[in-house]
Amino acid sequence: MIEMFVRIFVPASVVLVLVQAAAIADDTEYGEYLSAECVTCHQLSGADDGIPPITGWDIASFVAVLKSYKQKERDNPAMQLVTSNLGDEEMNALAAYFASQGPVTK
Ligand code: HEC
Repeated sequence: MIEMFVRIFVPASVVLVLVQAAAIADDTEYGEYLSAECVTCHQLSGADDGIPPITGWDIASFVAVLKSYKQKERDNPAMQLVTSNLGDEEMNALAAYFASQGPVTK
């Protein structure tokens, strides 16, 4: 009985963990690809040179801020333009990538 439990349930949970880890890694890679545009203005080092730093944020706040530019609730023409073509998947990937970079800035 115990052996059956181990055979059936342990591999399933291991696979699940691996799939989740792969999904997060994928997001980060896609985010890195998309971030090329962002880092022409925002510093990956987390430095603030007049443009606010965006590294180390938690994913939910990052996505919420991007949406508020896209929906024109936040008023900045550059950010409204940059976010106009971003869907949920892109925003999540960018959030995952910048969360994994630089110092925590929010
Ligand atoms: C042309 C320069 C430029 C580009 C490109 C750009 N940003 Fe911005 N971003 C800004 C500026 C300027 C602000 C501050 C705007 C404001 O005061 O609301 C800002 C604000 C932000 C904020 C909110 C920061 C805060 O502290 O509230 C986030 C998050 C952000 N940008 C993410 C991104 C992402 C992700 C990309 C790439 C998809 C990107 N930006 C591309 C100039 C840029």
